[in-house]
Amino acid sequence: MKDSVFPKDFFWGAGSSAFQVEGDTPPTDWTQAAEEGRVPNIGKACEHYTRFREDFDLAKSLGHNAHRFSIEWARIEPEEGVFDEKEIEHYREVLRALRERGMEPFVTLYHFTLPLWFSESGGWKRKDAPEIFARYCAYVVKHLSGLSRYFYTINEPNNLYNSGYLRGKWPPHKKYNFFGYLSVFLQLTRAHNAAYQKIKQEKNDCYVGIVFYVQVFKAISLFWKVVACILNYVCTYSFMNRVHRYTDMIGVNYYRTTTLGKHKAYIKTDIGWDMQPEELYEALRIMQVYHKPLFVSEAGIADAKDHYRADYIKKSIHAIAYARTNGMDVRGFFYWALLDNYELADGYAMRFGLIAMDYNTQTRTIRPSAYVYKEIIEKNGAMIGV
Ligand code: BGC
Repeated sequence: MKDSVFPKDFFWGAGSSAFQVEGDTPPTDWTQAAEEGRVPNIGKACEHYTRFREDFDLAKSLGHNAHRFSIEWARIEPEEGVFDEKEIEHYREVLRALRERGMEPFVTLYHFTLPLWFSESGGWKRKDAPEIFARYCAYVVKHLSGLSRYFYTINEPNNLYNSGYLRGKWPPHKKYNFFGYLSVFLQLTRAHNAAYQKIKQEKNDCYVGIVFYVQVFKAISLFWKVVACILNYVCTYSFMNRVHRYTDMIGVNYYRTTTLGKHKAYIKTDIGWDMQPEELYEALRIMQVYHKPLFVSEAGIADAKDHYRADYIKKSIHAIAYARTNGMDVRGFFYWALLDNYELADGYAMRFGLIAMDYNTQTRTIRPSAYVYKEIIEKNGAMIGV
């Protein structure tokens, strides 16, 4: 068999986030927005909170050796400063279930949803928000670290201030609120840095990182290349430059690339995004300037008919293989998502999963593309030529 550019300990898996799959989400800014009709209702989602073992059995049967999921902050800290030991025990069970199946857990501490008490008392605009967040993160890591080595503090800080304060699509639904944008941008850098330091005081033997949504800008002509550099600075480096000293690893979420000054027609995914998995290489190239281990923490497509997913996965893995041959330290690939789930402002209409959900019966059906991914994993990516 051809040699693989992937090391034996490369992580292959998929991802999820608490409120997108667990169901019965406790009071958060998103559940409140749903009650007000600003985002679709979350409801029971995939009932993953109770069915996680069944879901991990499926992931294992698909060859995964790692899994990324998130902790619901509102469950752990239902009131300010009050921590729920029962919920910690629940997530310990989740971690044990992964370990028993030989899957390495990657835990995200905050994936978009804020406890209602936090958002109602000012959210990220609270002066003491970074300290409050750091206290929650350190508490969780302290109680879970025996079972997990990899923790991400925040998922996609940039989507929080872009979608929450510019586009007005996510809580707190502010539009073109540049003051809010800037203050939340700065607070999230402080929150990550404070959380990193507090976690490390408690536990020094785990990896702590951040997950960033890398929107790639590229161009062919000189003029547009300059513009692309500026946009990459504004969208990615301006934030990452403030936090990279406090990260042991970086999670790269990749979905889209804009090629400036040139129009090329791409296949559109169900959500209307261009399908450009090969550009994942560019996203990794943007992030490798920090010389930290990189993980593709998300890349995936909405494709209900499963027409393009297998090709998308192959091309994404090819992009990683190419990045590795060019010296980039990429250590894992987490397809988004394991299951169809609550796709934020689009509700349940979009189907990103390796596993299809029938939400009425809670039936899970493995999509054909998941087996293509499985075959790649079984050969540790050896058939992906570069
Ligand atoms: C988010 C996920 C989301 C996915 C697809 C990412 O930006 O982290 O929560 O479901 O994109 O939109």
